[in-house]
Amino acid sequence: MNIEKTAEVYRKIMEELSRAVIGKNEIKKALVIGLIAGGHILIEGPPGSAKTTLAKSFSKIIGGTFKRIQFTPDMMPADITGFYLYSLQGEPSFIEGPIFANIVLADELNRTTPRTQSALLEAMQEHQVTIERQTFLLSSPFMVIATQVQTGGEGTYPLTDVQIDRFLLRAYSQHPDREEEGRIISSIDSIEAPDIKMVTTTEEIIAMQQLSKQIHVSPAVVNYITSIVHSLRFDPDVLSGLSARSGITIFKCARAFALLDGRDYVIPDDVKRLVYFAVEHRLRVKPEAEMEDITPRMIITRNLDKVPVPKF
Ligand SMILES: Nc1ncnc2c1ncn2[C@@H]1O[C@H](COP(=O)(O)OP(=O)(O)O)[C@@H](O)[C@H]1O
Ligand SMILES: [Mg+2]
Repeated sequence: MNIEKTAEVYRKIMEELSRAVIGKNEIKKALVIGLIAGGHILIEGPPGSAKTTLAKSFSKIIGGTFKRIQFTPDMMPADITGFYLYSLQGEPSFIEGPIFANIVLADELNRTTPRTQSALLEAMQEHQVTIERQTFLLSSPFMVIATQVQTGGEGTYPLTDVQIDRFLLRAYSQHPDREEEGRIISSIDSIEAPDIKMVTTTEEIIAMQQLSKQIHVSPAVVNYITSIVHSLRFDPDVLSGLSARSGITIFKCARAFALLDGRDYVIPDDVKRLVYFAVEHRLRVKPEAEMEDITPRMIITRNLDKVPVPKF
């Protein structure tokens, strides 16, 4: 695997994804970045905004195994991780849960109880599950694409800040604009039965993940990342400070971003473009600022404007 080949795989992934989903290029790119940076992605947005379709089509293109978990309030942790089944002779055999796959779609994650959510989030973090004191390693690569239904609705259990922090990137899926709406309608027959090809393999993905670790990040760019994180952390309208995961995420994703662009070094612009995806879900706004309609997005924008960009 090399940089040119990676850029080519990326182009093909985007092309295949576009057979199933019109527009949303930033979310499509976030999925690829998440895969290469080795993290999990959260997709939020209103019903019918192609969240499930995006995740499902992405998994088909990537190769490897895929499982979908449709979360409901009556689900138990064992429905995620798996369980032991005992034969009449008392012989145990482990029945793997749907977490054992390369790509796991955790659909409508906030519709299940905190206990079941924790089972998933723990496995996501540790890349393993422990059942009756036996530890089972998960697949590699392993990526969870979770979707949330709009919070506050009946029968939703919002994820805690600690859980949200586990997601590398968060993308927001919006309703289509007029132009996109037109394209969706006029190509609905092929959208509903897309002819999606697998364009990469798990071996290639692991090679791309390794390659991204070789992308050069200059001290000036590292300094730019830490300046942004500090500026956000101490913003007067931010309620709880950003965890160290924010800076690490920006760093890892910026390397993946540069790689997809066919470069072996990160430029400040890669960082800038990533901050919203990497940080917006982790920022909590003070209630008094919220009353003045200040959003995490606005806070990010004003801090990005404030922090000096290193010259390149
Ligand atoms: N941008 C889009 N491109 C293609 N199809 C779309 C788009 N937005 C919505 N749709 C269509 O809307 C329907 C609902 O999509 P779905 O993925 O189930 O939404 P969600 O999971 O967000 O509720 C699907 O038939 C999907 O093809
Ligand atoms: Mg859905």
